[in-house]
Amino acid sequence: MSKICLITGASSGLGRATALHYASKGWQVYAIARSSDKLAELANENTNIKPISLDLTDSVAVASWFAAWPAEQKIDVAILNAGNCEYVEATALDLAAFERTFALNVQAVVACTRYLLPHLHTGSRPTLAIVSSMAHFFPFTRSQAYGASKAATSYFTDTMRVDLSDTDINICLIEPGFIDTPLTQKNDFDMPFLMAPADAAKRIYDGIANTKSRLRFPRRLSFSLKLLGLLPYNLRNKLAIKMKVQ
Ligand SMILES: NC(=O)c1ccc[n+]([C@@H]2O[C@H](COP(=O)([O-])OP(=O)(O)OC[C@H]3O[C@@H](n4cnc5c(N)ncnc54)[C@H](OP(=O)(O)O)[C@@H]3O)[C@@H](O)[C@H]2O)c1
Repeated sequence: MSKICLITGASSGLGRATALHYASKGWQVYAIARSSDKLAELANENTNIKPISLDLTDSVAVASWFAAWPAEQKIDVAILNAGNCEYVEATALDLAAFERTFALNVQAVVACTRYLLPHLHTGSRPTLAIVSSMAHFFPFTRSQAYGASKAATSYFTDTMRVDLSDTDINICLIEPGFIDTPLTQKNDFDMPFLMAPADAAKRIYDGIANTKSRLRFPRRLSFSLKLLGLLPYNLRNKLAIKMKVQ
């Protein structure tokens, strides 16, 4: 029987590429997003993909969708990938942008985790993977909402790993650098070491197959950001100010 993988945010970008990668390896993929037209196109590309149209910020809808999931059908890999990025102005913080960002990047991740956990294929070393970002490693200009949401997501993931350490569930924190997707195509600044979504999807597939607890790619970017993190606080702050888009 095929293994089952559930991926959120599968209609576009990284989630789409990851769904196609798992499907190409013979997995049965449950692909979740809101856009039913894009999901239908995705399912046309590979019949192993089942499109699920669901707004993950609607926690009642999420709860009822998982409640209808057949108890005997266990999930081998769940990848909570759906996320959004909105830049904000420090002098007029857009509260609605914060709400939208936290609703999807944090609350929806918590809700999905809450409701999918009983459906994971325990006894067969299942993986719950959560897609955060390297964005929270450094105070990037105008990234207050996105960076703070991803810091919360990474913290949530790490603490879930601690509290589920007496189970056989592998909790995998994924912190990518820049990937060429609709989310980054609106950026008007240089994105070092930009990766193709298919390359990132392969890293995710291989990392999860090797039961990694954390994936950061590309390494050159995580290494550079780690080095910046070692700088004295005031110097790091000055550098971040220099990076501001004028
Ligand atoms: N691209 C990068 O450089 C980069 C770097 C680091 C981390 N990441 C993270 O990687 C993840 C994927 O990003 P991406 O670049 O692939 O972005 P993307 O192309 O914009 O895809 C975002 C996905 O999330 C789905 N989504 C948005 N709102 C939703 C909702 N309310 N309910 C259900 N699904 C929803 C979108 O589908 P619908 O609109 O159809 O719902 C889409 O499938 C995000 O968590 C992002 O923060 C990306």
